[in-house]
Amino acid sequence: MSIENCKLITLPKIEDHRGNLTFIEANEHVPFPIKRTYYLYDVPSGSERGGHAHRELEQLIVAVAGSFDVLLDDGNQEKRITLNRPYIGLYVSTMIWRELDNFASGSVCLVLASTHYDEGDYFRDYSEFLGALK
Ligand code: TYD
Repeated sequence: MSIENCKLITLPKIEDHRGNLTFIEANEHVPFPIKRTYYLYDVPSGSERGGHAHRELEQLIVAVAGSFDVLLDDGNQEKRITLNRPYIGLYVSTMIWRELDNFASGSVCLVLASTHYDEGDYFRDYSEFLGALK
């Protein structure tokens, strides 16, 4: 799997004078069934999250408030992407190492995941991840 498989997805945005609305439907706006959502919030300045890869899990990461960076690494190349729009999600495929940092104060990172939580699906050790790619 390469970081070329990861992509920014522009989500529907319904604008009116009462404010904006964005929605996400499984298999429609994300290329997987959504089994779980979680979100990061009250992230202290300078904090780093992520630091892992997944064997099977795919996900969409959205900065529903504020901004932060996502570093993607497929073992061959790296890419740093800033997320700062509530209507743009970053699709992350299987077997991609990701790190999240540069959180602006008040940011909320929403994640839609293709599987239930399973610690066995994680690579939390970078060299183990690289080894599995070979
Ligand atoms: P962790 O993977 O370190 O979070 P991040 O990806 O932001 O770095 O998860 C922190 C803790 O939360 C860890 O003990 C696992 C637990 N957790 C769950 O129990 N369920 C979940 O859906 C997630 C994402 C994490």
